[in-house]
Amino acid sequence: MARRLPLIFLLMIPGVYSADDCWGVTYSSSHICALKGSTVTINCTYTYPTGYQIKKVFWTKTQTPTDNVFPDLSEDSEYKQRIQYLRDKQHDCSVRLTDVRHTDSHEYYFRFITDKPDGKWIGAPGVTLDVTDKPVISISSSGVIVEGDSVTLTCSSESNPPVHNYSWFKENQTSSVGSGNIYYISNIRSDHSGQYKCKTRHTCGEKYSDSVTLNVLYPPRNVTASISSSGVIVEGDSVNLTCSSESNPPANISWFKEETSVGSGNIYSISNIRSDHSGQYKCKARNELGERNAALTLNVLYPPRNVSASISSSGVIVEGDSVTLTCSSESNPPVHNYSWFKENQTSSVGSGQTFSISNINSRLSGWFYCVAQNEVGSQRSDAVSVTVGHSSYRHLLFGIAAACGGLFTIAIIIVLILIIMRIRRVAKTKEAAVNQVNRQDDLYCAVNHVDLASESAHCDDVQYESVKPQRLGGEQTTAGEAPESRDPEELHYATVHHHSNAEMRRSEENENHYGNITNDKPDASVRSNVEDTSVIYSSVK
Ligand SMILES: *[C@@H]1O[C@H](CO)[C@@H](O)[C@H](O)[C@H]1NC(C)=O
Ligand SMILES: *[C@@H]1O[C@H](CO)[C@@H](O)[C@H](O)[C@H]1NC(C)=O
Ligand SMILES: *[C@@H]1O[C@H](CO)[C@@H](O)[C@H](O)[C@H]1NC(C)=O
Ligand SMILES: *[C@@H]1O[C@H](CO)[C@@H](O)[C@H](O)[C@H]1NC(C)=O
Ligand SMILES: *[C@@H]1O[C@H](CO)[C@@H](O)[C@H](O)[C@H]1NC(C)=O
Ligand SMILES: *[C@@H]1O[C@H](CO)[C@@H](O)[C@H](O)[C@H]1NC(C)=O
Ligand SMILES: *[C@@H]1O[C@H](CO)[C@@H](O)[C@H](O)[C@H]1NC(C)=O
Ligand SMILES: *[C@@H]1O[C@H](CO)[C@@H](O)[C@H](O)[C@H]1NC(C)=O
Repeated sequence: MARRLPLIFLLMIPGVYSADDCWGVTYSSSHICALKGSTVTINCTYTYPTGYQIKKVFWTKTQTPTDNVFPDLSEDSEYKQRIQYLRDKQHDCSVRLTDVRHTDSHEYYFRFITDKPDGKWIGAPGVTLDVTDKPVISISSSGVIVEGDSVTLTCSSESNPPVHNYSWFKENQTSSVGSGNIYYISNIRSDHSGQYKCKTRHTCGEKYSDSVTLNVLYPPRNVTASISSSGVIVEGDSVNLTCSSESNPPANISWFKEETSVGSGNIYSISNIRSDHSGQYKCKARNELGERNAALTLNVLYPPRNVSASISSSGVIVEGDSVTLTCSSESNPPVHNYSWFKENQTSSVGSGQTFSISNINSRLSGWFYCVAQNEVGSQRSDAVSVTVGHSSYRHLLFGIAAACGGLFTIAIIIVLILIIMRIRRVAKTKEAAVNQVNRQDDLYCAVNHVDLASESAHCDDVQYESVKPQRLGGEQTTAGEAPESRDPEELHYATVHHHSNAEMRRSEENENHYGNITNDKPDASVRSNVEDTSVIYSSVK
């Protein structure tokens, strides 16, 4: 049916058969392009005058044979398997050629021969067949391409006529990356990886090759380790450590914590993180071409714990002491403020890691605790007791102080009494002396007056001791004179003469004064000098 369509078409065109006398061959197209390997059909019709009988029809590629013999392609070994004459004995001369080769590129003619000797015809000019193909890329390096290598891509095409322009395209980039049938890349980089095509420009049009892939291998680089959480990590959080790297082929990732392998894969997940997860982590990216590391530090924060308050003094605290309380704790980051509280009081009593109470008194007794706080939380300590008491030592001191005070007071009183007594005595003696001086003009003061009558009974034994003559002016005799005056003959003053003040002055000049006179041997002569007007003194002082 399909075969007859052109005929129907031709029949519908008026006048085709009207010129009965015309010899002619009509090709649907004078120039046909065929891809190598494809099947091409050349449509053709022919006419001849009536009265002729077709004897032979065939296709040939020779227009002017040497011996006037046109070779029939169906008898050509090159063609006879592939050419098919779609024979119509009347007017159709279409032909089909399968498995087109680039050597098939040629001009072809249809020839027919009639029963009459002059009835021969060749349809010239004929149909030109151009054969082209899909270009093919070949890569210089058959094996692995590593960065730094040099690579040559060659585009080849079996076309006839030959391809007159080659260009190169990478992936879906619209502009070409090169021209010529050879594309050379020296010192290849990873960004040269990708799919390449070449394009040929030909009489038949443009043809693209299949794409080839360049896979440039390279060792890991730009290795980075990162923490999923950008902010702070607190105990109990879940954290992903991610290692990213560029490499071809993809790297195997392994994770280390301070040289100890802890996992593998791009993501190392830690759920319910603890403070002992803190530390240096390293991810190692490794492929066939090398390895590279990246590190990160994990700092797990936690609120204060093991908070305890301690007291500086181990013994009994007594009033007036100074007491220091110290708060200790563990936390990350370090505690930024400590506050001190007294049990059952809502407001704090102090701040700082140590809390000092100076000059303590019993009103400050109680239970104290501290609260340690950092950026992620706070915790209080157990309370410690601060008890203000009394010590026996203090009692003793107090007692001693009291006793001393008492003794001191008594001593002062005694001294006062003595002073008073002395003042009184002196005053009394003076009075007595003055009395005597008044009566007898005596020069002696503080002399005990002895009764004459009673004294006379002991006259024989009267001893004069410690006679201390004193001048009225208060001058005393020098002690040095006393030994000189210890002459036994002059020593015994049995009688003390009354002298007037004037006489006394004279006596001072003529006689020595005596101090500390000791009468060892009382002499009778002492008494012999005693006169009525004389006064006998004993214990003259
Ligand atoms: C030849 O004719 C057939 C149908 O008769 C058509 O399909 C084909 O495309 C034609 N070939 C050319 C080269 O015109
Ligand atoms: C090949 O193509 C390029 C761009 O497509 C053009 O610049 C060049 O002139 C062409 N060469 C030939 C021989 O046609
Ligand atoms: C190229 O095409 C592919 C799909 O064919 C697409 O995935 C890719 O993004 C394209 N690249 C560019 C650079 O347009
Ligand atoms: C960690 O990664 C896993 C997937 O690997 C994801 O499901 C999870 O949500 C991530 N966790 C965090 C904290 O980012
Ligand atoms: C990557 O890991 C796989 C599986 O564990 C192993 O077979 C392969 O040898 C590793 N490659 C390298 C480069 O270490
Ligand atoms: C801190 O407290 C934990 C329990 O909360 C305990 O296991 C640990 O031994 C304590 N550390 C110190 C130094 O007291
Ligand atoms: C801790 O310190 C900050 C600033 O230093 C202060 O505002 C805050 O009140 C303190 N907290 C306590 C409990 O003392
Ligand atoms: C604090 O108050 C509680 C109950 O309110 C009581 O049991 C405790 O004895 C009080 N502590 C002190 C030190 O007063």
